[in-house]
Amino acid sequence: NTRMVALDPIAPNPAVIEEAAAIIQAGQLVAFPTETVYGLGADGLNPTALRHIYTAKGRPSDNPLILHLASIEQLSLVASHVPEVAYPLIQAFWPGPLTLVLPKTAGVPDLATGGLATVAVRMPAHLVALALIKAADLPLAAPSANRSGRPSPTTAQHVFDDLHGRIPMILDAGPTCIGLESTVLDATCSPPAILRPGGITQEAIEAVIGRIQEATSLEQRRRSPGTRYRHYSPSARVLLLEEAETGMLQTAVTSALQRNERVGCLLYQLEAEAIPPSVMVTRVGGSVEDYAQSLFAALRALDKLDLDIIVVEGVQAKGLGVAVMDRLRRAAFPPKPSTGFTES
Ligand code: TXA
Ligand code: MG
Repeated sequence: NTRMVALDPIAPNPAVIEEAAAIIQAGQLVAFPTETVYGLGADGLNPTALRHIYTAKGRPSDNPLILHLASIEQLSLVASHVPEVAYPLIQAFWPGPLTLVLPKTAGVPDLATGGLATVAVRMPAHLVALALIKAADLPLAAPSANRSGRPSPTTAQHVFDDLHGRIPMILDAGPTCIGLESTVLDATCSPPAILRPGGITQEAIEAVIGRIQEATSLEQRRRSPGTRYRHYSPSARVLLLEEAETGMLQTAVTSALQRNERVGCLLYQLEAEAIPPSVMVTRVGGSVEDYAQSLFAALRALDKLDLDIIVVEGVQAKGLGVAVMDRLRRAAFPPKPSTGFTES
């Protein structure tokens, strides 16, 4: 009973958009593409609709959501005040993968913010997302459209795999182009602080407003509840080779095989020639943008293979590589069943 409807990403069928908007206005959920990952959309001002998001995802309700806008006019519905520093960022990066944390209005339900006094807001750079928000005429709350603890979805099929039977509609406009989530920037402090690295790099932000803070992991956990939760716990162990450790690929694979383990590799630039054919090798392309774009799909594919261990080649934590390494390090936590929560 979940309908997946194909849409042209450049010229989406207005009748389908209208139908999806009506579902949102009725307090139900629609999954839709953004430039980063697929989102699970609901009326961001309706507590009942927001509750449906947490239920469908199996997500703890103290983990706040991002509200998605289609126009600057909608900003005053959700933000009580826009700090001076936010204007040049909005000018430079909206629509696009930059989420700003701003002081919230009374109209934003506690369920959208986990009870915080701030709200996270962004304007997605995807014509289907913008058309849907415009037609619904509401700010749309939209977390990534995965079951909690799974990699974010970069195709409509990923959404279907996680949420079929739980939501009425998925808008399918093909694979998303950035492939990992937006950068979350706290604009309520001075200088602003990155709470989650993502599609807009620290360097790009600093080119517009000068030096910002890269939140320490402790600070980050205090201020961005979502970062407290393990992002993704594959059933296989993930052994992440940091940039300086990539020379250990061969050794890591060999010793896993000696332990009679089923081994997979996620490779970026390393050659696979010396790796035995029994090892499943997935490649994530030649540039860090390619890595970001195919990372979650590759993790989902590897996870289906019933492996014991996945050896992953990291990238230099610079530019978009910071966000790639953040997601990989979260995936590399040793699997702990059932809690979905980590202290570290
Ligand atoms: O690219 C994206 O951002 C995608 C697409 C669908 O737009 N959405 C997404 O949402 O990644 P979600 O819910 O998976 O992640 C939201 C992040 C979490 O880390 C959460 O803790 C943080 O934003 N966040 C939300 N509201 C916040 C607030 N008021 N203060 C600090 N962090 C907040
Ligand atoms: Mg998410």
